Amino acid sequence: MDTFSVIEQRRSVKHYDSRYAMPPEDADRLLDLAMLSPTSFNIQNWRFVKVEDPALRKQIRAAAWDQEQVTEAQLLLVLCADLKAWEKQPDRYWKNAPQAAQEMIVPVIGQFYQNGGEQVQRDEGMRSCAIASQTLMLAAKAMGYDSNPMIGFDPDAVAKLINLPDDHVIAMMLVIGKAAKPARERGGQLPKNEIVVVDRFAK
Ligand SMILES: Cc1cc2nc3c(=O)[nH]c(=O)nc-3n(C[C@H](O)[C@H](O)[C@H](O)COP(=O)(O)O)c2cc1C
Repeated sequence: MDTFSVIEQRRSVKHYDSRYAMPPEDADRLLDLAMLSPTSFNIQNWRFVKVEDPALRKQIRAAAWDQEQVTEAQLLLVLCADLKAWEKQPDRYWKNAPQAAQEMIVPVIGQFYQNGGEQVQRDEGMRSCAIASQTLMLAAKAMGYDSNPMIGFDPDAVAKLINLPDDHVIAMMLVIGKAAKPARERGGQLPKNEIVVVDRFAK
């Protein structure tokens, strides 16, 4: 499927065929592709919790308004961000760059997030996870799967269930699997002239 069709056909699917066995190499491929998503300063601040334990899935479903896709889809990922990735051996993120580039970029990473403070550090986590989520959803569609990004859950309860470290945050959950039922008609798209602003907003 070409990229344009994948974008047009990706929909949020709620019903999955839980009898289907996803080959482990498909899950691996999806995660490998997700790890190619861009991040600011290449800090790769996403952490993907792949929930395999059926009992844990049930507990997460209970914390997610009992949404059935949490247990029925083949893959459940909790997309988390390490808020402090920028200060954890940042030289790793540029180890293949020429020495001069490393010396220029690596110190700037620390300054940028230190100065930006908690708000910028959190925003960066959300930005990175959102982009990775779209990579995963489009890749899944191209591989014959469907997906559903999810924020309908109690983040504190899920954080507890997955032992989320104190310096991490959950951005969203994402399920991927074999659809049992297609998505409903699109809810209702806004007109383009409300979405696209040329140059500046009207005062
Ligand atoms: C960040 C985010 C969180 C969402 N959370 C949920 C959710 O908890 N449960 C659900 O059924 N759909 C959820 N959705 C799906 C949206 O309802 C859906 O993307 C939207 O209606 C547009 O439909 P489409 O994805 O099929 O184009 C979420 C979507 C996004 C982007």
